[in-house]
Amino acid sequence: MKILVTGGTGYIGSHTCVELLKEGHAVVILDNLRNSKAAVLEPVAALGGGTPVFVEGDMRDRPLLDSIFARHAPDAVIHFAGLKCVPESILNPLDYYNTNLYGTVTLLEAMQAAGCKNFVFSSSATVYGSKNSVPFHEEMPTGTATNPYGTTKIMIEQILRDYAAAQPAASICLLRYFNPVGAHPSGKLGESPNGVPNNIMPLIADVARGRLPALQITGTDFETPDGTGVRDYIHVVDLALGHMKALEKICGSTGVSVYNLGTGKGVSVLELVRAFEQVSGVTLPKVFAPCRPGDVAVCYADTSKAARELGWKAQRSVDDMCRDTWNYSRLREDLIN
Ligand code: NAD
Ligand code: UFG
Repeated sequence: MKILVTGGTGYIGSHTCVELLKEGHAVVILDNLRNSKAAVLEPVAALGGGTPVFVEGDMRDRPLLDSIFARHAPDAVIHFAGLKCVPESILNPLDYYNTNLYGTVTLLEAMQAAGCKNFVFSSSATVYGSKNSVPFHEEMPTGTATNPYGTTKIMIEQILRDYAAAQPAASICLLRYFNPVGAHPSGKLGESPNGVPNNIMPLIADVARGRLPALQITGTDFETPDGTGVRDYIHVVDLALGHMKALEKICGSTGVSVYNLGTGKGVSVLELVRAFEQVSGVTLPKVFAPCRPGDVAVCYADTSKAARELGWKAQRSVDDMCRDTWNYSRLREDLIN
């Protein structure tokens, strides 16, 4: 198949492109490089065994989108592009609503005009809010987000449901990611955001490389076994493989399907730090800090629906996630800031 991947030079998009190319799909990437670098195209092609078409541009540019659909006629779209930084979304909400909402609506309009029916969306566990209890399963009501970024995910899920209701031939898949971490096992591809990271794993790697003086452990009195936040960390390659299964499932089908992509296991910040220290042999300087506003204590997935309906299950361990992050952060200093 031919797949349009928005945000394909980003962290999760680039790993997914590798798997798409490995399966023999033709890949067209649309990315404006706001949070990624064109240099990742080289490892993507090398690891995937094929060359994606790269279009540098903005998903809000309707004429550009129309020209991509006219020229490439993709069978499906995997939509990763967007802004994802929670604190930044609180400071610049309009930027987030404009990019994430307007960008998605423009993309859907172009798809509809071109008759492209299959769409996979990068949603997030954040849609479960703070009132549901773990493990989160897909039939739970979505909650209220504590920040504009999370609100865009809830709103886009609703936009996609409304779109599918009006377009009976459309096939939409909402993939709710838990906490993606890790890197390609080759060490050639990983997470290289522009600017200072705010997620735990790239911060750990920056402390281990001496780029940051210490890791702040944000929150020590959560109601968890060791007082630190518990999350469902999922290796980015497992996540990418989940997209392959979702694509198989939705192409040729109709309606909206929703799947959690996580491991189903909760890991505390201290457990993650200990695993990283063991794998890397580096002791991380740590400071204990208050929890960040809006952080939930525990978040992990019920993964049974994805196992049952997609035949997908995450295979990689927390040690794999730490080892691959560590390899990448030392091998590809050129890609990381
Ligand atoms: P990323 O920032 O690495 O990738 C997003 C890509 O979108 C970047 O390459 C960026 O340059 C591009 N982009 C941004 N605005 C654009 C625009 N207007 N037009 C074209 N391209 C644009 O992020 P990621 O971690 O790979 O996340 C991918 C998707 O998954 C995002 O939608 C994110 O919200 C979602 N998600 C991520 C996580 C996570 O922890 N990484 C968790 C849940 C959901
Ligand atoms: N943490 C620290 N120190 C830090 C940063 C984080 O101890 O400097 C802790 C947090 O308290 C939390 C854990 O590490 O317990 C994970 O934090 P992340 O920021 O890596 O991830 P979150 O679970 O807070 O958020 C992520 C994505 C969001 C998404 C959410 C739910 O960043 O975009 O998962 O899917 F909405």
